[in-house]
Amino acid sequence: MATVLVTGGAGYIGSHACKALAAAGHVPVAYDTIEQGHRWAVQWGPLVVGDTADRPRLDAAIAEHRPEAVMHFAGYLFVGESVREPGKYYANNTAASVTLVQALTDAGIDKLVFSSTAAVYGTPDTVPIPEDAPKQPINPYGNSKWMVEQILRDVDAAKGLRSVSLRYFNAAGADPDGDIGEAHDPETHLIPRALMAAAGEISHLDLFGTDYPTPDGTAVRDYIHVTDLVAAHVQALDYLMAGGRTDAFNLGTGTGISVRQIIAAADRVSGAKTPVREAPRREGDPASLIADPSRAAKILGFAPKFTTIDPIVDTAWQWYRGGFQTHVGRGA
Ligand code: UFG
Repeated sequence: MATVLVTGGAGYIGSHACKALAAAGHVPVAYDTIEQGHRWAVQWGPLVVGDTADRPRLDAAIAEHRPEAVMHFAGYLFVGESVREPGKYYANNTAASVTLVQALTDAGIDKLVFSSTAAVYGTPDTVPIPEDAPKQPINPYGNSKWMVEQILRDVDAAKGLRSVSLRYFNAAGADPDGDIGEAHDPETHLIPRALMAAAGEISHLDLFGTDYPTPDGTAVRDYIHVTDLVAAHVQALDYLMAGGRTDAFNLGTGTGISVRQIIAAADRVSGAKTPVREAPRREGDPASLIADPSRAAKILGFAPKFTTIDPIVDTAWQWYRGGFQTHVGRGA
């Protein structure tokens, strides 16, 4: 049983990771600026308000809590913003990660699970995408994460910090118990926006692109339930605690779902007809991103429980109608 420092522990995926760590008997210490995260999302251990770029604050948190390992979620996540403000992304996602890694190696901490992204692959040549596919990010967000993955390999070689980089496809859904869920501001992701439109909080959902070379002309993604995603982080921690070597794994279900299929799921789950307006493609969106998750299955034991889309969208809907309204309280 380990104390684990969880940067971004008040955020969407980080808070679900804290819950999963606690359920596995670990002690999660959330380390978060609360700029994008939420105090209400920290329910399974202490919160240290701090920035990964702030070395003295990090050193103090490490000295106080003495973590055995770190899960590093803190970072900015808006692809479009990263194109307009690349410096912001390289500073917060890349440079701050270097500060964190130096603090860890100086403190003798040798295990790190890193929140990476399918955006490292850019527009893939083929799907499903294996881990050894070319890394050709097409935006600063993806590049900022890919740079960290490369830095982590060098740091392991020099300092013995072993790490697992987990490349997420589309994280979706919410804690099935309703304790926590997605609350981005602004919210740009498809499933929450479709549900906001279904509930009447926004006038309609913009459907970005109907002319993709996909079966129904809309973009295809691999939606992985956030609870399955964080279970893989606990497995990655176990792998590192058992002496596992630095590696990177895809986390997705291996199933592609189109935007129109998500809209149909939102209709079924909400019982409403989601108002949709067809719009041009969003810049930088690949037609299809589907994981080949077989290495994570084989090496980490990754086995997602949510294998169909309706239950994923349903947990997002339950959260949107419940805890989200209690804690955030926007609209409907
Ligand atoms: N979409 C719409 N309307 C919306 C929002 C999204 O049609 O209002 C479409 C997008 O064009 C895309 C799909 O729905 O085709 C999924 O979009 P999301 O914004 O939900 O997710 P992305 O696939 O763009 O992004 C996700 C992660 C990013 C990560 C990226 C990797 O959220 O952090 O995958 O490619 F960088």
